[in-house]
This record gives sequence, structure tokens and C-alpha cells, in this order.
Amino acid sequence: MTKSAILILLGPPGAGKGTQARMLEEKFGLVQLSTGDLLRAAVAAGTEAGKEAQAVMSAGGLVSDEIVLAILKDRMAEPDTQKGVILDGFPRTAGQAEALDDLLAAQGQSIGAAISLDVDDAAMVERVSGRYTCANCGEGYHDSFKQPAVAGVCDKCGSTEFKRRADDNAETVSARLESYHAQTAPLITYYEGKGVLSRVDAMGEIDRVAADLAAIVTQVTD
Ligand code: AP5
Repeated sequence: MTKSAILILLGPPGAGKGTQARMLEEKFGLVQLSTGDLLRAAVAAGTEAGKEAQAVMSAGGLVSDEIVLAILKDRMAEPDTQKGVILDGFPRTAGQAEALDDLLAAQGQSIGAAISLDVDDAAMVERVSGRYTCANCGEGYHDSFKQPAVAGVCDKCGSTEFKRRADDNAETVSARLESYHAQTAPLITYYEGKGVLSRVDAMGEIDRVAADLAAIVTQVTD
């Protein structure tokens, strides 16, 4: 890879950011960096940041830029990110986008592509409320759209333990969608202005969306 492999996946809850980030991670050897996952880990670990984030996440709001940026910067400093990263769920506000620009500029890096996963809000509640993951390896599944090949057994690691997220209920999903439209959707215009925006129709089947994304990533990393 010769060009910058800093990729951003933009999209509302349920757009498929996590699903697609994991597929790109495998295909291109990049590292998925999900601020949602990092925040849930902080909540589970009971850190001060985690305690503050928990109430906001349960209500479907956005955690403060200060907390998110501190967590993100720590993770970006780890050596595995040098191969390139897929930012899943970050940035989500204008402040985060500007802070990311500053962070990358200080390292002589820039954004390769910001990809908006375009979806219909109405379908997102079903997508999110039917979602579950392997409790061992985190592989994602869905009651209707993506079941394991053998019922009750994770395709990736063989675990029989699965879990659902506390914020995946209809009421919280609606609040998360509102937060997305108010604070994150304007970043589509921000990245368009920088000439790095691509858009993908993310209402199609998972493999179709993955193929469209792979074409964009190949272009920016070749
Ligand atoms: P986060 O964990 O980032 O959640 P989110 O953005 O709400 O996104 P989701 O993880 O719900 O959806 P996704 O797009 O990854 O979809 P998925 O691939 O799972 O954030 C959680 C919370 O943390 C936020 O609400 C906020 O409070 C806080 N937070 C996180 N980052 C923050 C930040 N930067 N600043 C401030 N606060 C922050 O797909 C969903 C389901 O649909 C799956 O079951 C999947 O199998 C299925 N599916 C996927 N694609 C398709 C398809 N094409 N067709 C059919 N089904 C599909």
C-alpha cells in the first residue's frame, strides 16, 4: 500500500459500519477502530471515562468529544495501527473531525477516504434490534439477515455464547438516529469539501456492499 490507509466509515446505527469494517480488516489487513467498542470496553472496565459514558450511551446520545478523543488517541498510538485503520463510528462531530485532521497532520498522514454508508432510517430499527454478536470473538449476526451456518455455533470461533447490546432497543435506536442526523450527517458535506468523500448504497446485501467498499479501498490504497 503506497497511499494513506486511513479510512472513515460514516453512517447511522445499523448502516453496517461494524460488519463492513471487519470484512475490510480481513481483506486488506487494516485495523478496525470502533469508538463504540472502545467505549463499551471502558464501561465494562469501570474506568472514570466509562462511568461517564455509560449514561449517555444508554440514552442514545453522544459521549463528550473530550472522552472520545482521549480514548481514540491512545488506541491510534498502538503499533498495529501503522498498517492503516478503518475508523468505525468516528468522527461523529465537527470537533472530532477537526481533531482527527490535526492528529493526522502531526503524523504526516491524511485521510484516504471517508465513505458514507447510505441507508433508509426506517429499516435501521429492524437491523439493530435483530443484531447479536459472538460473546467470544465479536463476530456479528442477525436474526433475519445473517445467521451462523450451524444454528447456535459461531462460524468464526465455534463458541456457543452470544450477546445483545443494551442500547439495541427501539427507543434508544430512535435517539441514536436523531443524534446521527443532528451531529454526524453534516460531516458528509465536510468530507465532500475535502475531496475524499465516497458514497455507497448500503441497503443492498452485505456481500454487495462489501464489494462496493472493496473497490473504493483498493483505489485509495493502490
Ligand atoms: P456504536 O457502537 O458506534 O454504534 P452505532 O453507530 O449506533 O452503530 P451500530 O454499531 O449500531 O451499527 P453498525 O453501523 O456498526 O451496524 P452493524 O454492522 O452492527 O456507538 C454506540 C454508542 O457509543 C453511540 O450511541 C454513542 O453513545 C457512543 N459513541 C460511539 N462512538 C462515538 C463517538 N465517536 N462520539 C461520541 N459518542 C460515541 O449492522 C447492524 C445489523 O444489521 C447487524 O446484525 C448486521 O448483520 C446487519 N446488517 C449489516 N449490513 C446489512 C445489510 N447490508 N443488509 C442486511 N443486514 C445487514
